[in-house]
Amino acid sequence: MPKAKAILFDLDGVLTDTSEYHYRAWKQLADEEGIPLTREENDAHLRGVGRRDSLMYIIRGRQYSEDKIQEMMKRKNDYYNKLIEQMSPKEVVAGGRELLQEIRQAGLKSAVASASKNCRIVLERLQIIDLFDGIADGNSVVNGKPAPDIFVFAAGLVQTSVIDCIGVEDADAGIEAIKTAGMYALGVGPKERFKRADKVVPTMENIRLKDILADA
Ligand code: BG6
Ligand code: MG
Repeated sequence: MPKAKAILFDLDGVLTDTSEYHYRAWKQLADEEGIPLTREENDAHLRGVGRRDSLMYIIRGRQYSEDKIQEMMKRKNDYYNKLIEQMSPKEVVAGGRELLQEIRQAGLKSAVASASKNCRIVLERLQIIDLFDGIADGNSVVNGKPAPDIFVFAAGLVQTSVIDCIGVEDADAGIEAIKTAGMYALGVGPKERFKRADKVVPTMENIRLKDILADA
C-alpha cells in the first residue's frame, strides 16, 4: 500500500480496556436473566459488536417482547455507565497518548471508529478527545461491524481514501470491517482471534508509530 495517511482506531479494547467493562455489564445482565455467558463467547461473538446485536447473540433461541429487549439493553447500558463513571486519564493504554501525539507530529490524521454510543463520554473521561481529527461512533452509521461502514465514514471525516488508511481493532468483527473497507488491518490481541488481519500485536501497550507503519 502507498504510505499511510491516516490511522483509524477502534476505542474499546484498543485505546483503553473498556471491553472488560462491556463484558462485565453483559455478564451481570445474563446472570440476572439466568442465561449462560462465558468470557470465551464474549471474545468470539460480542467483542466489537453493537448493543442490539450483542443482546441478540446472548438471548439467541429465546423469545422476548420488544419491550423486554429494550429494557435489557437499557439495563446493560446502565451497568456499563456505572462502571465507566470513575474512569480517568490513567486508563488510556500505556503509551497511547504519546502515540496519538506522535501521529499528529508526523503529519498523519487520526480518527476513532467505534461502535459505541458511549464513545464520546469515554474519550472525554480519558481526556484524549482533542487528539483526534475525527470521531465516528455508534451514532454515525446504521450497519455495525463487521460491515465496513464505520471505517469508511471515519476515513471520510479525515478526508483520506480507504487505500491510505490503517485500521486498528481488537475484535475480529472489526478486522472484517476494516478489510471489507479496503484498508490495512492491524489486530490487537491473540493471533488466533483474527482471520484477516494484515498484522497482529498482542497489546497496544507502548506501540509506537513505527510499529504500526512497519510492513503497512
Ligand atoms: C463496541 C464494544 O466498541 O461498542 C462492544 O466493543 C459494544 O462491546 C459496542 O457492544 C456498542 O457499545 P454501546 O456503548 O453503544 O452499547
Ligand atoms: Mg474493540
